Amino acid sequence: MSTSNIYILGIESSCDDTSAAVIHNGKVLSNIVANQEVHAKYGGVVPELASRAHQQNIVPVVQQAIAQAGITKEDLSGIAFTRGPGLMGSLLVGTSFAKSLALGLNIPLLDINHMQAHILAHFIEEENSKIPPFPFICLTISGGHTQLIKIIDHFNMEILGETIDDAVGEAFDKSAKILGLPYPGGPLIDKYAQQGNPKAFTFTQPKVGDLEFSFSGLKTQILYFVQKNVKADPDFIEKNLVDICASIQHTIIEILVKKLKNAVKETGIKHIAIAGGVSANSEIRKRLLLAEKHWGWTTYIPKFQYTTDNAAMIAITGYLKYLKQNYADFSISAKARLKVTES
Ligand code: KG4
Ligand code: ZN
Repeated sequence: MSTSNIYILGIESSCDDTSAAVIHNGKVLSNIVANQEVHAKYGGVVPELASRAHQQNIVPVVQQAIAQAGITKEDLSGIAFTRGPGLMGSLLVGTSFAKSLALGLNIPLLDINHMQAHILAHFIEEENSKIPPFPFICLTISGGHTQLIKIIDHFNMEILGETIDDAVGEAFDKSAKILGLPYPGGPLIDKYAQQGNPKAFTFTQPKVGDLEFSFSGLKTQILYFVQKNVKADPDFIEKNLVDICASIQHTIIEILVKKLKNAVKETGIKHIAIAGGVSANSEIRKRLLLAEKHWGWTTYIPKFQYTTDNAAMIAITGYLKYLKQNYADFSISAKARLKVTES
């Protein structure tokens, strides 16, 4: 296949979404995501159930991605898969599948760091896509991570600051759980918050370093706040749900925006991106748009479908690695813990 006609299949199976995507020269041809409903009733992801569901989903999801791209597997130039971080049992499904397929087709295998991929989703080429120039700052906000990262080059990143305890996605999900909402609660808090008053209740912000985050104290505050009020009025949550959600979301977004301002001040970099599942949040998206107007930043907000876990981000990262001929050895194994700075 000529180098001007590169098709990369991306496979993502790090947590509870099985996803496959095909990228042609940086453009997405297909991006199939199979969500695993099975976890909702347990209030969180059950690793053993997740890996079983990946086993069931992976073949149909990959077949659908290839079919929807209008190609056959013989057209593929390389296979990119999530090596980590994530749940080991889940990662192993994607890793083994990717290895076998690449071996069978005799094409390069590309190992992808999931957290780098969230960031590099900004390099997907689409109509009206705004691609950030180097260096830029990315606030990576997901279910497992909260980091401020300086992106010097595609595969050269520096962590400026991160959470010392919970990730921001966990703060959303755990708060939602306290309110009796199902997992994952982040999108529900976002939905209810849109009808509520963000100033109805106040929660204090954590006192940590300028570029550090902490969310475990906020979670405890919310727990005590809810327990105290429910004791006085058993219908407190029901009566105030939208205002509670709006107030929690407001507190979290205020923290994120404050940290971004600190990062801009410390680095002088005004190109600001967000990435990861929480970047789907409507309020953070609004606030970043306003930052362009008010503070002269240029902000990069991923398309909604590339915020939560998806294989298009794995495929674009695979494409960028393929261009550098940075292929994986077939002896490579999945890695549950992998820093964003490790390739
Ligand atoms: O990146 P992601 O799909 O998976 C990880 O790599 O962790 O992120 C999932 C996280 C969950 O905590 C989920 O509640 C949160 O992203 N999330 C949101 C929204 N959509 C997803 N949080 C707030 N508002 C949303 N709209
Ligand atoms: Zn993720």
